Amino acid sequence: MDELEKTILSLKKNSFDINIYGKVINFKINENTKKWVTHYKSNLTNQVKKIHEDSFKSVDFETFFVIYYIFKFVLPDIFMIGKLLPNENEIVLELGSGLGFFAVILYYLLHKNIQLHLVEIENTSNFNSEFNYKMDQNNTNALNNDHILPLKLLKEFLDLNKVKAKIYSPEELKESNLKNINFVYSFRSYCFLYKIEEYAKFLSHGMANDGKILCDASKQKKQNIKFKEEFFYKKTIAESDAFERIYAMKNFSIGYN
Ligand SMILES: C[S@@+](CC[C@H](N)C(=O)[O-])C[C@H]1O[C@@H](n2cnc3c(N)ncnc32)[C@H](O)[C@@H]1O
Repeated sequence: MDELEKTILSLKKNSFDINIYGKVINFKINENTKKWVTHYKSNLTNQVKKIHEDSFKSVDFETFFVIYYIFKFVLPDIFMIGKLLPNENEIVLELGSGLGFFAVILYYLLHKNIQLHLVEIENTSNFNSEFNYKMDQNNTNALNNDHILPLKLLKEFLDLNKVKAKIYSPEELKESNLKNINFVYSFRSYCFLYKIEEYAKFLSHGMANDGKILCDASKQKKQNIKFKEEFFYKKTIAESDAFERIYAMKNFSIGYN
């Protein structure tokens, strides 16, 4: 039996287990979790419906969609990072956390010994409209029309899953005194138009000297090149036509050691 089937079998009303690196993590979800996933990934609806109808019809569709999202996007992120995952007691910052699935996993994988700081926007209505990525523009419109409040949903989801974290809007983060950050990550920012580069200035002051960054950036943008110049760019760990997942370090001299 594969892990997805095991997770489906573990399903109770609004909770399920996922086995990650041999540790079983229990996720609790509610109606807003389902709403966020079904709206945010509305472009996948037909594809997920087919898998659901073919193999998992006994589970309610929206719950299946949440589990599918975690298996399709969040777990591959975790496994892709593998050895680069932060250590216990480190200060960790996630930019654009969405509901916080990745944060829940990190928190429990690291036995709650982690200082988590998460950033989300308050409202989807102020998205930048220079977006030209059609598939995701549909999603952006769906979210705008439904007035999703990501920051509120993130807080709610972390409370539901008993994760301790400090949560900021982008403005609050930039005004904060957060320092000595050991590990920064940001995945799929491109679906939502924000550029990782908007955080470059904050990160160059806020990160510890040996701090690591894993983030997605557009290959086309000049800012991306600047970002790589400001930080010690180590490598691209994944890429698509338009985006790359970058592994960088705060400090050039440490990078060369
Ligand atoms: C595509 S989602 C990815 C969520 C999560 N990282 C994941 O992979 O499941 C991108 C998130 O970035 C958030 N976002 C949009 N603009 C942002 C900004 N300027 N700073 C931080 N987050 C932002 C969106 O609200 C959305 O939840």
